[in-house]
Amino acid sequence: MTALKKIKKLGTAISRATLKRDWYRDAVGGMWERMGKLQFDFLRERGLRPDHYLLDVGCGSLRGGIHFIRHLEPGHYFGIDSSTELLSAGRAELKRNGLAHKRPVLARMEDFDFKSLQQTFDWAIAQSVFTHLPINSIMRCISNMEGSLAEGGRFYATFFDNPNGKLNLAPILHHCDDKTLTTFFDKDPYHYSFETFQFICQGSSLKVECLGDWGHPRDQQMMVFIKNPILHLSTG
Ligand SMILES: C[S@@+](CC[C@H](N)C(=O)[O-])C[C@H]1O[C@@H](n2cnc3c(N)ncnc32)[C@H](O)[C@@H]1O
Repeated sequence: MTALKKIKKLGTAISRATLKRDWYRDAVGGMWERMGKLQFDFLRERGLRPDHYLLDVGCGSLRGGIHFIRHLEPGHYFGIDSSTELLSAGRAELKRNGLAHKRPVLARMEDFDFKSLQQTFDWAIAQSVFTHLPINSIMRCISNMEGSLAEGGRFYATFFDNPNGKLNLAPILHHCDDKTLTTFFDKDPYHYSFETFQFICQGSSLKVECLGDWGHPRDQQMMVFIKNPILHLSTG
């Protein structure tokens, strides 16, 4: 084998190893630094303090989690995800970042059984999770969240907007900086009209507000569910 061929072979092996090493970053959508910081800055600017309790729904491999955990007091971050592999990758990322002493609670679940965490939360976030879920799963998540939010607590969630009314069945194109994405009425990635979330909250202690564009590079919009907001001062 010539020297050039050897170098090429080595190069391929290294990029394969790198791909494998970073699989858990791609698995949650890539843009590791940007999306991690975006969600953290968003909540911190709205008042997330180190002594607050945060529930990260569909935390994946801790893309946002690493930032939240660094900010919060030990034991105040709870992350749940349906993927054992992503949670393991998150634990490794935690160690690499020297944050194991922060003792986050990382739990595998797929039925949003938040009660089992035995904690009420001041804040919760589901970043890029509802975009992958059918409506009944979202309803289960929101209904269980109602029981685990503190009074005045806030649950931020991202979604792909369907601005054409809840019975528009046509796919929607989202023109992003780097590509065009298609979302669907009844398959992943899903879009929803905001009125769907208002409907879900009817008769509950949750009120939902649409916050719209929050700087997500793939056109995901932000909304917030607030528990008994009238009893508490709203800060946005
Ligand atoms: C696109 S990733 C986003 C991860 C994380 N929120 C972030 O911003 O990096 C979606 C995550 O939702 C998780 N997920 C999907 N369905 C779920 C369910 N029913 N219960 C818990 N997690 C779920 C996936 O395993 C995945 O980690």
